[in-house]
Amino acid sequence: MQEGFAIRQAEIEIFGHRGASGHFPENTLIAFQETRIAGANGIELDVQMSKDRQLIVMHDETIDRTTNGSGYIKDMTYEILKALDAGSWFHSSFSNEKIITLDEVLEWATGEGNHLTINIELKNDQIFYDGLEEAVLNLVQQYHLEDRVIISSFNPKSLQKVRSLHKTIDIGYLIEGKPPDTVEIAKQIGANAIHCQEVFALSEKGQTARAEGLLLRVYTVNDTNAIERLKHAEVSVIMTDYPAEFVKSSAKK
Ligand code: G3P
Ligand code: CA
Repeated sequence: MQEGFAIRQAEIEIFGHRGASGHFPENTLIAFQETRIAGANGIELDVQMSKDRQLIVMHDETIDRTTNGSGYIKDMTYEILKALDAGSWFHSSFSNEKIITLDEVLEWATGEGNHLTINIELKNDQIFYDGLEEAVLNLVQQYHLEDRVIISSFNPKSLQKVRSLHKTIDIGYLIEGKPPDTVEIAKQIGANAIHCQEVFALSEKGQTARAEGLLLRVYTVNDTNAIERLKHAEVSVIMTDYPAEFVKSSAKK
């Protein structure tokens, strides 16, 4: 095990992927609140940056799919973004949902009785947002949430920068499939976990990662039958769009 990192417990944990996004509009406050109500351990969310450098919680680089607006987040001010409807695309009953900032999520996360882990995915692999790492870390530190936050990204350079700025924060290297040299890269950049799909976790590579002391956190798992085999593979976290269903099922297993 690599020392000095904020490692979490050995029991399998359930995170709401983009919140409880199977039943609620992804990356909105209601999706995060419902993850908490479900009794899950954490939320996963995605962060982009607006023209006026606000940290915007959204998966896509554009607002087209999940709001009633159109265009790139990087070209818009938060003033414009916050007026949009971020829920009707999912169902008309969510028309009051707004785009949320990371600041608002972290403020909510520090509320009384809220102990959720917050997995912040830096979405700087398609568009490079200069200064995204510093901005996210500053906010996390402002809320004193260093021990409850995981920073992840598909961009290893970005994670390396996070590690250079913060020696102990939990870092998850995101991969898709089974790319070669995953374990080497993860160790090189100072990650303490690999955020991967089931195919990696159950593979020899995944087990090598475990043997090397790296945690495995698996996305996006929506079939509760996977819980048992992921437990056997010593996976730490399952990220799912259906946290309520997974919390219930994992309690039974
Ligand atoms: O963080 C895990 C997972 O969310 C990565 O893929 O496309 O859903 O952001 P994506
Ligand atoms: Ca994500």
